[in-house]
Amino acid sequence: MKFLKFDEIDSTNNYMKENIPSFENYDIVSAKIQTSGRGRRGNVWLSPEGMALFSFLLKPEKTLSIIEATKLPLLAGISTLVALKKIKDGAYSFKWTNDVFLNSKKLCGILIERVKDDFVVGIGINVANKIPEDIKNIAISMESDYDIDKLILKVVEEFSLYYKRFSEGKWQEIIEEINSYNFLKNKKIRVHIGDKVFQGIARNIVEDGRIEIEMDGEIKLFSVGEIKIEKDYY
Ligand code: BTN
Repeated sequence: MKFLKFDEIDSTNNYMKENIPSFENYDIVSAKIQTSGRGRRGNVWLSPEGMALFSFLLKPEKTLSIIEATKLPLLAGISTLVALKKIKDGAYSFKWTNDVFLNSKKLCGILIERVKDDFVVGIGINVANKIPEDIKNIAISMESDYDIDKLILKVVEEFSLYYKRFSEGKWQEIIEEINSYNFLKNKKIRVHIGDKVFQGIARNIVEDGRIEIEMDGEIKLFSVGEIKIEKDYY
């Protein structure tokens, strides 16, 4: 397994995507600093020193269907959560679809990008970096001097174990575990669907990776493509 380490790079996801043929399953690229870190929905991912900033390659043995691929962010989330919990126990939760929270604040973000049949799994975790004052209400850092390389290896190892179980048809077990950490469960949330805004109560994450939202006493299922949950509401 290859583990390429950069002091500074534009984005570990970009590097891996641009050099896919030179990487094998579970090879890793990390950086101390990213100058153009990318988040989901085209957001900028500020990437100061002290964060674990890395991408690894998933090369499935057979082409994943779209439904299987939509489960990958959940798999990456639970793997990261469990890896971190093993390193230092704490009140971690999984915020559907891609975030790991600690003490109800965002600790880690995940950006998965498909390149033909392969997937670049990009993860940013606030390990030793200090959180800027203006986002302290929504983000948190472990503020620990852990060995970041070891932490990265642990996350990738945990992902490989979850992915193996997923490939063996044990998804039901995994989704139950994910639900046991479901941050949004029973929280009142405001969701944007197209240009409309609704209020609802989040319930369980279901088998196909969608989330149940109770609106006016009725359960509706949503995928991330359809909704945006307002951050500062729940
Ligand atoms: C999000 O929550 O919006 C996802 C953030 C993902 C950030 C990581 S850091 C390593 C990898 N390289 C990037 O440019 N982005 C991901």
